[in-house]
Amino acid sequence: MSSILALVTLLASTVVAQGSSTVSMSAMSMSGVATNTAPVAGTPTSGASGGLMTVHVIKAGNQAGGLVFEPNSVTANVGDMVQFQFYPKNHSVAQSNFANPCMPIQMSDAAAAANAFYSGFMPTDRMGQLTYTIQVKDTNPIWFYCSQGKHCQNGMVGAINP
Ligand SMILES: *[C@@H]1O[C@H](CO)[C@@H](O)[C@H](O)[C@H]1NC(C)=O
Repeated sequence: MSSILALVTLLASTVVAQGSSTVSMSAMSMSGVATNTAPVAGTPTSGASGGLMTVHVIKAGNQAGGLVFEPNSVTANVGDMVQFQFYPKNHSVAQSNFANPCMPIQMSDAAAAANAFYSGFMPTDRMGQLTYTIQVKDTNPIWFYCSQGKHCQNGMVGAINP
C-alpha cells in the first residue's frame, strides 16, 4: 500500500508539471474483455477450463463522481481476474507503469505494447454496469490510470500487486 499512497501523493504535487498530453489510443492493443454484466465481488466464476476463478472488483469512479479507483490497490494471484466497473461520468482504464503513471505503458516501454490493456472510454450514467476485465498473468506490479482529461493527474491511479 505504501507505494500507491506515495504515487497518489506524487501526482497531487505534480499536476502542473505533468501538463496535458494528448495520446492516440487507437493503436493500443486491447487484451482485456469489456462486457455489460457485472459479477459480484469475490464470486467464483466458471472459467474456460471449467475451474473456479477469483474476481477482484475495482470501481472506476464512484457514486459521488469521484476521480478514484476503489480500491486503488489489490493483491491478486496469477490467474485471478480483475474487473473494472465503471461509474459516471466517462472514465477509462489504461495500463501504465510506476515511472510514468499517466501515460500508456507502451510509450515508455515498447516491449510492453503487445500485452498492454486499455478499456477505451466508458461513458455511463449507470452504477458499475459497464465492465472491463483483465486476467493477471504474473505477480509483477501492474499499474493503471484513467486516461480521461486530468483524471490521472488528480489521483485516478491504481495498482495490482504494487
Ligand atoms: C468520453 O471521453 C472521450 C475522451 O475525452 C471523448 O472523446 C468522448 O466523446 C466522451 N464520450 C462521451 C459520451 O462524453
